[in-house]
Amino acid sequence: MAAGLGASSAFAADGGPDNVAAWPAAEKPTPLNDVTHYNNFYEFGTDKSDPAELSGSFKPTPWSVQVDGMVDKPKQWDLADLQKQFGQEERLYRMRCVEAWSMVIPWNGFSLAALLKAAGPKVGARYVAFTSVVRPSEMPGQRGGLFALKWPYVEGLRLDEAMHPLTLLATGVYGQALPAQNGAPIRLVVPWKYGFKGIKSITRITLTDQQPPTSWNLMAPEEYGFYANVNPAVDHPRWSQASEQIIGEGSLFRSARKPTQLFNGYAEQVAHLYQGMDLRKDF
Ligand code: MTE
Repeated sequence: MAAGLGASSAFAADGGPDNVAAWPAAEKPTPLNDVTHYNNFYEFGTDKSDPAELSGSFKPTPWSVQVDGMVDKPKQWDLADLQKQFGQEERLYRMRCVEAWSMVIPWNGFSLAALLKAAGPKVGARYVAFTSVVRPSEMPGQRGGLFALKWPYVEGLRLDEAMHPLTLLATGVYGQALPAQNGAPIRLVVPWKYGFKGIKSITRITLTDQQPPTSWNLMAPEEYGFYANVNPAVDHPRWSQASEQIIGEGSLFRSARKPTQLFNGYAEQVAHLYQGMDLRKDF
């Protein structure tokens, strides 16, 4: 089953920024080469090309994911068993980075909800905490340096966000196993949130009653909130969020841009999760 992008007609050609070179009539998937060579994965370095270039030593097999905390059935899952039990579907999702660029990516994976249901959340569980792998010997960005992110990379969702059918655990992209630079062998994809919520190379998923710490929020709490919902009306101190550069379109001289949509275009599916909240305060 392919869960689609929603209405692409939401991109009206008026009111956009001046430097729009190519306006997509319909959203088309970002070329695979851009998806796999323009990455943020700081465990491998800070340049967009570092994750592809410096991940040659990373070994995604064997791999297991510990599911624990406030669940009835804690379990250490082998990756192959996860795939066997929960299957693989293709989901074509928009991906919007807080740095104001975007892609459209065909992921393969399964709903996080299926795994959480199998674990059986206990009454009182309210959040899900995620932890990335720590392997300095295979990940050059984890070997010191000046960069201020702490390892492991950690992320979190409210339990209702985690249970939402759009929330995906991806094990592939374009029908192939995830390459190291995209978060091999398993990563989170939450298409209505900024890309940094999509934690890569997950080793642990823990249910808890406390809002979990998240890597970018720990580093700069005034810049990166816990919720990180895509919102064109709430700017980041360094990036206007009103529009986004479309990676893989435009030219060297003229980037292609489109207006950013509230919840990255998934408002119809997810806005109810945030009813009554002040999205400027809980950014
Ligand atoms: N996960 C880990 N473990 N380490 C990271 O540095 N970067 C995040 C997110 N997940 C990151 C991570 C950021 S900032 C973004 S925008 C997305 O991964 C990028 O995913 P992509 O490279 O597959 O497009």
